[in-house]
Amino acid sequence: MSLWSGGRFDDGPADALWRFTVDGSDRRLLEVDVLGSIAHVTMLGEVDLVSGDDVDSLLGGLHRILAEARDGDFPWEDGDEDVHSAVERRLGELVGKVAGKLHTGRSRNDQVALDLRLYLMASIGDRVEQIERFIETLIEQGVAVGDAIVPSYTHVQQAQAVPFAHHLLAYAWMLVRDRDRFEGLRSRMAVSPLGAGASGGSSLPLDTSRSAELLGMNGAFTNSMDAVGSRDLVAEFAWCATQTMVHLSRLSEELILWCSSEFSWATYADAFTTGSSAMPQKKNPDIAELVRGRSAVAIGDLTAILTMQKGLPLTYNRDFQEDKRAVFHVDDVLAGSLDALTGLVATAEFHPEEPDVWVTSLDLAEALVARGVPFREAHHVVGRLVSTLVSEGRTFPDVTAVELCAFDDRFEPQDLERLDTANSIGARRSAGGGSMVSVGRQISELRTLLGSS
Ligand code: ARG
Repeated sequence: MSLWSGGRFDDGPADALWRFTVDGSDRRLLEVDVLGSIAHVTMLGEVDLVSGDDVDSLLGGLHRILAEARDGDFPWEDGDEDVHSAVERRLGELVGKVAGKLHTGRSRNDQVALDLRLYLMASIGDRVEQIERFIETLIEQGVAVGDAIVPSYTHVQQAQAVPFAHHLLAYAWMLVRDRDRFEGLRSRMAVSPLGAGASGGSSLPLDTSRSAELLGMNGAFTNSMDAVGSRDLVAEFAWCATQTMVHLSRLSEELILWCSSEFSWATYADAFTTGSSAMPQKKNPDIAELVRGRSAVAIGDLTAILTMQKGLPLTYNRDFQEDKRAVFHVDDVLAGSLDALTGLVATAEFHPEEPDVWVTSLDLAEALVARGVPFREAHHVVGRLVSTLVSEGRTFPDVTAVELCAFDDRFEPQDLERLDTANSIGARRSAGGGSMVSVGRQISELRTLLGSS
């Protein structure tokens, strides 16, 4: 059913038009669409635009539809143009002609803008919970790996010795920001567009603040054209989701490398890996690979939502219909990725390899710096020591105290201790640096931020 047939139109829609314009993706908005209508009708009753009896009938029908939506037995029909039309059609079946009063002071333009906000607000709540669960998993693994030491990498070259927990917690901090971005968006989302109508508002005495209040939102729109003609918040949701996916993708890339025989830093549970149909020995980290792959599709969704808006004049344009497919998809991708990756990480066993001996080079240079040698000079001295040892086929552990002090008389015998990775981490002072003290502080700060301390 369309909400516009009859009237202006003598002829019905062509099959080609119907097939092309109708898109069932918005069926996911059913529940929030009905909730929006319940608030709208309640407000219409309060401002005497609809009589008490009619309000009772409309609300009775809408609550029945809400139950059908929640039970998954709403009777969709192929002829429903969109979710809004389907609800009005169903309401007519349930309460008769009075259903025609539902759309008083409303347009599908403000209705769909509201539905999206309500839907995405609920999604934000779910995604925030999932992100927090993932952060907790990273903390638990950070605790489980204890004081295991790994190299930090820059340019995929071993850089400095750091606690492995410090590496895992770096992702926890990225995810805290992802969570915070979603939280910040939630309050921007909580503004009701209801009452903006088609684009310019209405001559009827609608109480837009009241419908906003009934929906638990923070307030109503202040510009009706902005309210129905903007989709920046949909794009912001997609960006929050996509940035989270990109973080998960970076971690996934590492998880994939770590379980390779070349790295051998991690073993994943059978239940969270897949086998090869051809090679019996294989155990593949498919979850991480799919997260990495799906982050590409998420970037595509975000790009589609941004591009869809760029040439649109105000206010509503049917192009907007396309935002739903993309935003639902990116949300689904994130939800699935968080669940699966949390399982993979929670059940992983980490047994990272010790770094190469050279990762303490900077520590040795800092021993000289602490004695007043300019850093650039200290860097040069240690660089020369490294290149001498490499050319002789030797490494740091081969160097004796006598030899070190002979190489440069500003070295002292105890500087040899700087070459030990555990000492390197133990000596690290910068707050937030790669030391066990910093890891302990991070874990308690993260727990406070999650409210789980
Ligand atoms: N299906 C439409 C959408 O998703 C709903 C709004 C239709 N409004 C209109 N004036 N045709 O954007």
